[in-house]
Order: sequence, then C-alpha cells, then structure tokens
Amino acid sequence: MKAVRPGHYQKESSSSRKGEADLRLPKAGTIEIAPSILSADFAKLADEIAVIESAGVSMVHLDVMDGHFVPNITIGPPVISKLRKVSKLVFDSHLMISEPAKYAERFVEAGANHITFHIEAADEPKKLIDRLHELGVTAGICLNPQTPVEAIEAVAPLCDMVLVMTVQPGFGAQSFMPEAAKKIIRVREIVGPDIRVEVDGGIDPQNTPIVVSYGADTLVVGNAIFSKSDRIAAINAIRGAAN
Ligand code: DX5
Ligand code: ZN
Repeated sequence: MKAVRPGHYQKESSSSRKGEADLRLPKAGTIEIAPSILSADFAKLADEIAVIESAGVSMVHLDVMDGHFVPNITIGPPVISKLRKVSKLVFDSHLMISEPAKYAERFVEAGANHITFHIEAADEPKKLIDRLHELGVTAGICLNPQTPVEAIEAVAPLCDMVLVMTVQPGFGAQSFMPEAAKKIIRVREIVGPDIRVEVDGGIDPQNTPIVVSYGADTLVVGNAIFSKSDRIAAINAIRGAAN
C-alpha cells in the first residue's frame, strides 16, 4: 500500500475540499486535458486556474523550469503551495530541472499530486520513481524530442504516466514536432492500456486527433488555451477534436 503523503490535505477535514483520494491522477481509460499555465497570465494565476476548473478539467499542468536543465525559469514549490490553497485540480507537475531527486520531496510537500521528471536529468530513475510512490504521489518519466524511446523502456512500466515531448522543453507556444509525436506509438506498446501517455508541446485542435490515434490519452495544452480570450471554448475545441 502506498504511503500517505505528508502535506496539508490530510489536515483538512472540511467537506468543502475534495479529499486526498480524489486528487489522484485519473485512472487510464479516459482522455484528459491538462492545461499548461505556462501561457497563462502569471499575475492572475488563481483566476486562470479557476476558469479552467470551471471547464471541467481534472488536472492542471505546472511547468517547473530551473534555468539549468532548460534555458528558462518559471515557478517552484512556493508558488505551487499557494496555488494548492485555491485549487482542487490534480497538480500535474512537470519538472524540467536538473537533479530532480534532490527537489522532489519539496514539490510533494507543496501539494503536487503527480510528478514527472526527465530521463535526461535523472541518474537513478527507478529509485526516484520508487521514492515518489513512497511519498504518496504518482510518478512520470519524460523524454525530450531527440531522446529515443529505448531510454525509458525499462522504467516506463513502473510509472503512472509517461510524457512525450513534442517540442524542445523550455518555452510555450512552439510548433508541434510530428516526428517526435510518432514515439507515442512505441511508448503505448511498451506501457499497455493501464498507464497514461501524455503529450506536451504545440498541441492544438488540428494535431489532437493525430496524437490520440497514436495512443496519447493526456493532452497538455498551453498556448492553444491561454492565447484565446475564451479559455473554456478553447478547451471544448480540444475535447471535440479528441473525440
Ligand atoms: C514546454 C512545456 C509545455 C508547454 C506547453 O517546455 O513543458 O508544457 O508549456 O505549451 P504549448 O501548448 O504552448 O506548447
Ligand atoms: Zn510541460
């Protein structure tokens, strides 16, 4: 049995909040949209998240960048712990950082529910996946566009979700890389139907049917939602394209 993660959710018994059990990565078998707040208005993050929550998504994708593993810097545990207080969404935390093992626990304490780290940044991926499970969160492994699927073959079946990058990580609003997306097919073969396969980078209503046909069931969408004035309509456009 998985350990209960330390964090404020155990202390909250109020029925106004969802319990810990609800804040889990949805079981595989559904298509989920994970809006990436990277393209949201960072001065109004709580409002931006409230809008996507009202659109009925179950998760939000939090892009964490350290200026070392990728050439950009975004948010870390202090921001996530503040967002935790205003959102009941599953926090799908994408760590684009060096030494993910060193920082993972801090993200769990801040309120992350799912933690993805990059195979390119991890010395001992299996150990980190086990550690994340011990901490009570689900674990994800991610591979960059130029990284072959073989690099994750051994550890992917141990994860709860595998993330395939279809842009070079570091920035939002980049162009979708069709060749990188084809790796989804092989990843799905490796993990089978019970592990989520997430795709991240340049996803829009045009390429959504393609990545879903390859086997992706979790769609990270940043620019195609937050560049639109009507975020809810943009989410519904992705939903329509996925079905
Ligand atoms: C890129 C990030 C992505 C990105 C997705 O480094 O990991 O999550 O924000 O945004 P779009 O959909 O704009 O490519
Ligand atoms: Zn991401």
